[in-house]
Amino acid sequence: MQTVTDAAALRAAIRGWRTAGQTVGLVPTMGNLHAGHHSLLKLVRNRADRVVASVFVNPTQFGPGEDFERYPRTLAQDQAGLAEAGCDILFAPEVATLYPFGADSSVSIHVPRLTETLEGAHRPGHFDGVATVVAKLFNLVQPDLAVFGQKDFQQLRVIERMVRDLSLPIKVMAAPTLRDEDGLALSSRNQYLSAAERVRAPQIYATLTQMRELFAQGHAWQALEQAATARLQRAGFVPDYVAIRRAEDLGEPEADERTGLVALVAARLGTTRLIDNLPFD
Ligand code: PAF
Repeated sequence: MQTVTDAAALRAAIRGWRTAGQTVGLVPTMGNLHAGHHSLLKLVRNRADRVVASVFVNPTQFGPGEDFERYPRTLAQDQAGLAEAGCDILFAPEVATLYPFGADSSVSIHVPRLTETLEGAHRPGHFDGVATVVAKLFNLVQPDLAVFGQKDFQQLRVIERMVRDLSLPIKVMAAPTLRDEDGLALSSRNQYLSAAERVRAPQIYATLTQMRELFAQGHAWQALEQAATARLQRAGFVPDYVAIRRAEDLGEPEADERTGLVALVAARLGTTRLIDNLPFD
């Protein structure tokens, strides 16, 4: 595996593959890779001739007071894991490579409506930063396909929408959420949890699972949102939202809408903000 920090070197390597008629898959990440990321890589490995993974802690998707500074940066460890998982190129650019005019002065991509709810409502500007950096990575790599984890459900929808709206010739693939044995979704932010918080953290998945079961038994989605919020509060979480939405566009379901829904949670446990979701179908 080659590690490349420079856009020209990245383009040159990809041009060589293209000339040889090979397809290219992209796995965008912010590094600190875990088994969930490695599963994304393997998914792409099986569907493209060549795989590029990017590791870039993107400043424009962090709000003031969020964890940009303390976000774990573990490039040497990431390199070893990616090489093992079959990555061809690790692209690890400097901020100035992706933001030549500075992160504050970048062209910005805004995906309206879809980004105004849930994560977007609690993290203003977050999805502009995500869409912008992903568009930049798409332009540099020009992949045939790119994979994103379903754990960041709204992010996945935002990127799908951007790709369709901008007619980008890229197939966006969704990879299932990987979980620890107790149900906690794998995330780089899990390492912020204290030992006591780590014991309580699986309550999010337990709550989502219960919401799905009770919904299947005929309960109304609004009542389930309220009950799940209360359950998480009792377990010591401070929920930002607990929502049942249409999986397609994250809109509020009609009272009698019973299919195509997803439950989504964002909640703080101490200083750590965790998100998770569970499609109902
Ligand atoms: O999901 C992530 O790790 C990031 O939001 C992404 C897609 C790599 C963009 O920085």
